[in-house]
Amino acid sequence: MGAEEQNRDQAEKLRSLVNIGNQPAEKPPVSRVITVTSGKGGVGKSNTAINLAIQFSKRGKKVIILDADLGLANIEVMFGTVPKHSLYDVIKNGMDIKDVITPGPLDIGFISGGSGIADMANLSRAELETIVNNLSKLDAMSDVVIIDTGAGISDTVMEFLLSSSEIVLVTTPEPASITDSYSLLKALCRNKHYHPGNSAIRFIGNKVKNEKEGKELFAKLNAVVKRYLEMDINYLGSVPFDNRLEKAVMQQKPVSIGDPEAKSTLAYEMLAASLLGDEVEVRHESRGITALFARMVRFGKRGE
Ligand SMILES: Nc1ncnc2c1ncn2[C@@H]1O[C@H](COP(=O)(O)OP(=O)(O)OP(=O)(O)O)[C@@H](O)[C@H]1O
Ligand SMILES: [Mg+2]
Repeated sequence: MGAEEQNRDQAEKLRSLVNIGNQPAEKPPVSRVITVTSGKGGVGKSNTAINLAIQFSKRGKKVIILDADLGLANIEVMFGTVPKHSLYDVIKNGMDIKDVITPGPLDIGFISGGSGIADMANLSRAELETIVNNLSKLDAMSDVVIIDTGAGISDTVMEFLLSSSEIVLVTTPEPASITDSYSLLKALCRNKHYHPGNSAIRFIGNKVKNEKEGKELFAKLNAVVKRYLEMDINYLGSVPFDNRLEKAVMQQKPVSIGDPEAKSTLAYEMLAASLLGDEVEVRHESRGITALFARMVRFGKRGE
C-alpha cells in the first residue's frame, strides 16, 4: 500500500469511528415539515397552505405541498391542475415519487395523498420500504414540506398531528370554528402518544376584521386550553377577511400570485417571514417527512 493509499485508508477509518460516535460527518438533507390543520372544515387551511408555500418559495425555498385530505380536491382546485397520480401509486403501483409530483407555480410541487394516506398503518414491510425510500428522495429535494390535512378529528388527522413537529392551527371567528379547534386540541392532548415537547402548535386567526380581532380570538382559545389542557399554543398571526382572496379562489389563482397588493397577501408575507425566522428545533433523526411518516406508522397501529 502506497503512502497516499495508507492515508486514505486511515481517513476512512477515522470517519467510520466518528460515525460510531453518533456524529455522522455528513447528514443527509431533510426538509422542514409544517402541518396545517383546523377543527372545522372550510376555514382556510388550503389557502393557508398554498399561500405560505408561495411566500416560502419567493424567499428561495423549494416547497412541496402534500394534500393529505381525502375529501374534496383542495390544492388542485387552486392550482387549476388535477394530478393524475398520488402517493397511492407510489405505495401500490411502484411509481417513483418524483413522477407523482404535479408542478405548480413558482416551482412548487404538489402531491396528492390519495387513498395511500389512510392506509399507512396497514402497509406490508415491502410497501413500507418503498414509501420510506421515496420519502427520503422528497426530503433530499425540498426545503419545506407543507401538509394540508383534512378538518376534524379523524384517525388520519390525529396521526398526522401526533407525528408533526410543527402544527399550524387555522381558526376563524365563527363560534363553531373556535369550539372545533378546542375539541381538536383536546383530542390531541388526551391521546396517549401525545407529548407536549414533541410539537409546536401555532395559531393563525383567519377571516378576521383586523389583527386585534385575531389576537382576541387567540386569547379566547388559549384561555380554555390553559385551563383544561396540558399544552401550549402560540399566536403566529392573522389573515383578514379579504374579498380579493375570494375572487382569487374563483379564478383558481392563489391570491399571493394573482394579487400581490391584496391585504391577505401581505398577511401571508408576514406569516411566512415569522415562520422562517422561528423554526422549531427538531433533532436531526426526527426531522423531515420520512421521519414523520415513520412515526405515523407507529402511532397508526390502531389500539396499540
Ligand atoms: N382570509 C380570507 N378571506 C376571505 N375568504 C376566505 C379567506 N380564507 C378563506 N376564505 C374562503 O373560504 C373558502 C374556504 O377556504 P379553504 O378552501 O382554504 O378552506 P379549507 O379549510 O381548506 O376547507 P376544507 O376543509 O373544505 O378543505 C375559500 O374558498 C375562500 O373563499
Ligand atoms: Mg382544504
